[in-house]
Amino acid sequence: MGKADLARRKFRRERGNRKVHSSQLKNRSAHFSERFDSLVHLGLYSQLPGAPCHMLSFTINQEVTTFDGDETTPLLWVLRDHLDMTGTKYGCGIGLCGACTVHINGVAQRSCVVPMAAVANAAITTIEGLAAADDKLHPVQQAWLEHDVPQCGFCQPGQIMATVDFLKRFPNPSDDDIDNNITNICRCGTYARIRKAIHRAAELSATGDRK
Ligand code: FES
Ligand code: FES
Repeated sequence: MGKADLARRKFRRERGNRKVHSSQLKNRSAHFSERFDSLVHLGLYSQLPGAPCHMLSFTINQEVTTFDGDETTPLLWVLRDHLDMTGTKYGCGIGLCGACTVHINGVAQRSCVVPMAAVANAAITTIEGLAAADDKLHPVQQAWLEHDVPQCGFCQPGQIMATVDFLKRFPNPSDDDIDNNITNICRCGTYARIRKAIHRAAELSATGDRK
């Protein structure tokens, strides 16, 4: 077993207290610095947060979590690589595809372009936390099942998280509303099924029907 495997195993053993340490983020942060420059160039950040390291506290799926690494680290990398929450996917890494969509304070955001500095004291919900505490599916998840939406499935957590937020703003959406507001990309082209499932999710949400 290589050093990296041992380090990962050690981290998983210790992550019962849900702390993310700066030493574990060093390589990722260096890689992100290069990518961060390109994001600024694209205008995806309004200001540079620099690279300070302060202890941040936030909740993920109602569980209090702390972080003491480089605050420019993308939320997506902390979720996937350090909290082992791999339901949120890494697609483009520059805020374009939506595969990494999570909710921050109830609003859908693309976590690959959200630096940790932006989530201090925030409430984050990922696909893992969308179902109710009693494991009943969210109406959007239920609709996705009914319409058998996924093909490869890679984009679908992001599609579902984007749809949950969308239906709060458009509880009875038209096809145009869907096409104009759900901008997540699906390489398998499941858009027709996604649209049907969104209409079904709107029905289920209106009737409060959860199976
Ligand atoms: S991975 Fe974040 S938008 Fe594509
Ligand atoms: S189901 Fe394959 S990318 Fe969307």
